[in-house]
Amino acid sequence: MMDQAVRNGTEAQAEHKVEIFLADYEPPKTVVTDIRLVFCLFDTHADITATSTFTRNGDLAAPMVLDAGDMLEIVSVKLDGVAARHSRGKRTLTVEGAGAGGTLEIVTRIKPQDNTKLEGLYRSGGMFCTQCEAEGFRQITAFPDRPDVMARYAVRIEADKASCPVLLSNGNPVASGGLGEGRHFAEWEDPFPKPSYLFALVAGDLGHITDHFTTASGRRVTLNIYADPRDLDKCDHAMESLKRSMRWDEEVYGLEYDLDLFNIVAVGDFNMGAMENKGLNVFNTKCVLASPETATDRDYDSVEGIIGHEYFHNWTGNRVTCRDWFQLSLKEGLTVFRDQEFSADMGSRAVKRLDDVRILRSHQFPEDGGPLAHPVRPDRYVEINNFYTVTVYNKGAEVIRMMHRLIGAEAFRKGMDLYFARHDGQAVTCDDFAAAMADASGKDLSQFKRWYSQAGTPVLSVSRARTGNDVIVTIEQETAPTPGQPVKEPFHMPFLMGWVATDGQAITPVVTGGDWREDGCLLEVREGRQSFTFKDVPEGAVPSLLRGFSAPVRLKSDLTREDLAFLLRYDSDPFARWEAAQTLARDQVLGVTAALIEGRNAPADTPFSDAVESLFADKALDPAFLAELLTLPGEVELGQMMEVLEPGHLHEAREATLNDLATRYEAEMRARYDSLRPKGGYKQDGAARAARRLANLLLQFLARRPGGDALVKAHYEAADNMTDRIAALSAVSDSDFACRGAILADFYERSKDEPLVLDKWFAVQATSRRGDTVQKVRELSRHPAFTLKNPNRLRSLVSSFTMLNQAGFHDPSGQGYRFLAETILAVDKINPLIAARLVAPLGRWARVEPARQAMMLDSLRFILDEPKLSDDVRELAAKSLKG
Ligand code: TRP
Ligand code: ZN
Repeated sequence: MMDQAVRNGTEAQAEHKVEIFLADYEPPKTVVTDIRLVFCLFDTHADITATSTFTRNGDLAAPMVLDAGDMLEIVSVKLDGVAARHSRGKRTLTVEGAGAGGTLEIVTRIKPQDNTKLEGLYRSGGMFCTQCEAEGFRQITAFPDRPDVMARYAVRIEADKASCPVLLSNGNPVASGGLGEGRHFAEWEDPFPKPSYLFALVAGDLGHITDHFTTASGRRVTLNIYADPRDLDKCDHAMESLKRSMRWDEEVYGLEYDLDLFNIVAVGDFNMGAMENKGLNVFNTKCVLASPETATDRDYDSVEGIIGHEYFHNWTGNRVTCRDWFQLSLKEGLTVFRDQEFSADMGSRAVKRLDDVRILRSHQFPEDGGPLAHPVRPDRYVEINNFYTVTVYNKGAEVIRMMHRLIGAEAFRKGMDLYFARHDGQAVTCDDFAAAMADASGKDLSQFKRWYSQAGTPVLSVSRARTGNDVIVTIEQETAPTPGQPVKEPFHMPFLMGWVATDGQAITPVVTGGDWREDGCLLEVREGRQSFTFKDVPEGAVPSLLRGFSAPVRLKSDLTREDLAFLLRYDSDPFARWEAAQTLARDQVLGVTAALIEGRNAPADTPFSDAVESLFADKALDPAFLAELLTLPGEVELGQMMEVLEPGHLHEAREATLNDLATRYEAEMRARYDSLRPKGGYKQDGAARAARRLANLLLQFLARRPGGDALVKAHYEAADNMTDRIAALSAVSDSDFACRGAILADFYERSKDEPLVLDKWFAVQATSRRGDTVQKVRELSRHPAFTLKNPNRLRSLVSSFTMLNQAGFHDPSGQGYRFLAETILAVDKINPLIAARLVAPLGRWARVEPARQAMMLDSLRFILDEPKLSDDVRELAAKSLKG
C-alpha cells in the first residue's frame, strides 16, 4: 500500500506517476479567477505569457505547487511584478512566497512543431491547435490544472499573417490588427468561467463556411466551420447537424446556446473524436467531414451524432462541469445519452438502439469482464487518459437511460432543470446529478447508485412457472467479481417486459409489483432473486423480455427456440424482436463451433437459418430493420459466450452459418437485391439509405455464391457513392476473386489524396476474413502511406485488425500478438496516449485457449520489459498481465 507521504508530497518527483484515489479528494489550494494568456507563435517555438489572479487556501506559508508538463520550459516567474523563487519538479512548478493571493506571471516556451503527443499546443499540417482535456493545459503553462479551478480567460494570439491568417480562441473576438514584419494579432475573451481543460487556440491557414441560428429567445448566433480549404465542400452536413442539435436541445431540454459565436475546426491529427472547448469545438476531420464520395451512410450518422455530442456538452460539461476526473461520466455518460436520443429522434429510434446495444456487447462487455474492468465512476487511476473508456462513456449512458426509465421522461426533465438550477457554473459530482434526479422524482436512488461504483456486467436469469392461470416470473441477478471487487451487491434496475398471445396480439395481464406503460410492463429489480406474478395469462402466451435493452446486462432465459421464432415474427418491441433473432443465431453458430472443436459433424438443426424464411416472406418489414435482423452477432460478441475462446473454430462456424444462409436463400436474396438497386441517381433520404443498407448486406451473402465475382465487380463499377463502393470493396477484400488486385488498386488510386478514404483502404484490408491477413497487415504497415504519427491512419490499420478482426488477430502463429506488441512500443515513443489505447486486446488472454494464452502473455511481458515505457502503457499492460 502506498503511504500518505508518497501519495501527496513526493508524487511529483517520483520516476513513475503513482495511483491517485477518489477518496483523497481535497479542494484546490490555489484558485485562479482570471487569466490573461499571450501567445507568440513562431515556426521554431512558441512563447506564452500567462498572468493569473489567484487566491490561496490552507497553509499560506507553504509554497505554491502548480502542475507543469514535461514539454514545458519555464522562462520566468513573477509574483505581483517581482521575480519569484521557484523550482521545477518532474511534473510541477513550485513557487515560493505566494502568500494569500495576488498576480502570478509565468513565461513559458514550448516547441509545438515537435509535439507528437497531440496534447497541449501542437501543429497539425501547418496549423497550430490545442488539446487540453484532460491534462494538456499544463503543457502550455504552469497552472492548477484541475477541473474545479474555473477562471475567466482573455487571450491574445500573435502569429505570422501569411501562414496563420486565422487566429481563434474561446468566446468572443474583441480586437485584431497588424503588427509589422508580416505578423498580426487577435484577442478573444470568454465571459464564462471555465476549467483549463476547455481552453482552446487555433491558428492557421483555414477556410470556413458560415451560417446562422436564431435561438428560441431571439439571439442570432453565427456558426462557422473551419477546415483546410480543400475540405470546405465536405462541411455542409456538419453545419446542418449543428443547427439540428441546437434546435433539439431547445425543444427537448429548454437549453439555449449562450454566446453569439460558435466555431468548429477540423483537424487531421487528433487523438480522439472531438473536443467540446467552450465556443471553439475542435474535431477530428473524420468526425466532421462528409460527402457522398468520401463518407458512408454510417459516417454521415456518426458525424451528426458527434456534432450533437460536442454541442450538448455546452450545458452538460461546460456550464456544469466535473469536480475531478473521477467524475468523468458526469459529463460523458450524460452527454452520450443525450446524443443517442438526438440521433434516435433524427433517424430510426429502433435501429439506433440496436447499434448502441452492439457497441456495448462487442466493446463494453469485454472490457467489463476483463482485467481492465472499472466502475463507471473509477475510484483510482494512474493516467486519466486511460479512463476515457466505453465503460465511462457508453455504460455511463446506460446508467442515465435507466434513471430516465425508472423515473419517467417528465420527472427526468424536471431533474435536469433542477440540476442546472442548482449547479450552473459549478464543478460537481455524479452524486449531485443523482440527487437532482432523486429530488425531482421523489425516487430513492441510493441502491441504484451502485451502478456508479460496482464494475462488471450482471447476468440476469429469467424463468417462468405456471400456477393455475397465473405465471410467476423469477428474475435472478449475479455479477462476477472484477479486479479489486471480489463481492458484488445486487443492482437496482428497470426490467421492461411484455406478453404476446398465441394469435400474435399483445396482452397486458395484471401484475403484482409491476407497472404497465405504453411500451411494456416495468419491473423494478432490486434483489438477488425476485418474483413477479402475472394474473390470468392465457396458455401459450410468450413473454418478451428486457424490452428496449432496459438494463446493460447479459440475459439468460428459459425461452425456447419456438418462443424465440414466435417473438421474431410478432413482438412489437424492436429490440426484443431483434434479440430473438440474435439468440437463435448465437445458438446456431455456437452449436457449429462446439461440433468443430469436438470433431463432430455440425448439428442438423439450424434454428436461425429456419427462422429467416419468415423474414423474406414479410413484405411489410422496413428494409433497414430487415438488414439488422439478418446481421449475425460479430465474432467478438460470440466469443464472449464461449467458456474458452477458440477463435479459429468460431470463425469457421460463423462463416459456415453465413454460407448456409447464402445457399438456402440465394434466390430470395438475389431477387431482393435486384429490386433494391437504385433506378435513379444517388439520394440521401431515409428510404434510399435503408435500401443501400439491405442491398449491401445482401451483396455480402451473394458474393459467397457462384457468380459472386461478377456481381461484386459490377456493384463496384456502378457505385456512385462511398457506401456502395466500400461494400463492394469489402466483399472483394474478403475474397480471392480474379478482380481483387485490380479493384484494390483502383480504390487506392481514387483515394490517395483523401486521407479519410485512404484510411478505409487500410481498414478494409485489415478486417479481411482471408487467412493471410496477419501477413498482409504487416506488409501494409510498411506501405509508404502508412504512418504511426497520425492516429486515424494508425487505427485504420492496427485497431481495425486487433479489435475488429478476432480471427486474424488470434492467428495461430501468434504473429498478430507480436505485431501489436511491437507497434505499441513504437507508438509509445511518439504518442503514449494512443499507444495505451491499443493494449486492451492483448489483455484478454484469460479467456483464450492455452496455446494462444501463452503467446499473449509473452507479448505483454515483452512490452513491460521496455525500460522507458510510458506511464500510460505501463498502467494498462501491468493490469492486463495480472488478469
Ligand atoms: N471530451 C471529449 C469528448 O467528448 C473527449 C476528448 C477529446 C479527449 N480529446 C481528448 C479526452 C483527448 C482525452 C484526451 O468526448
Ligand atoms: Zn464527450
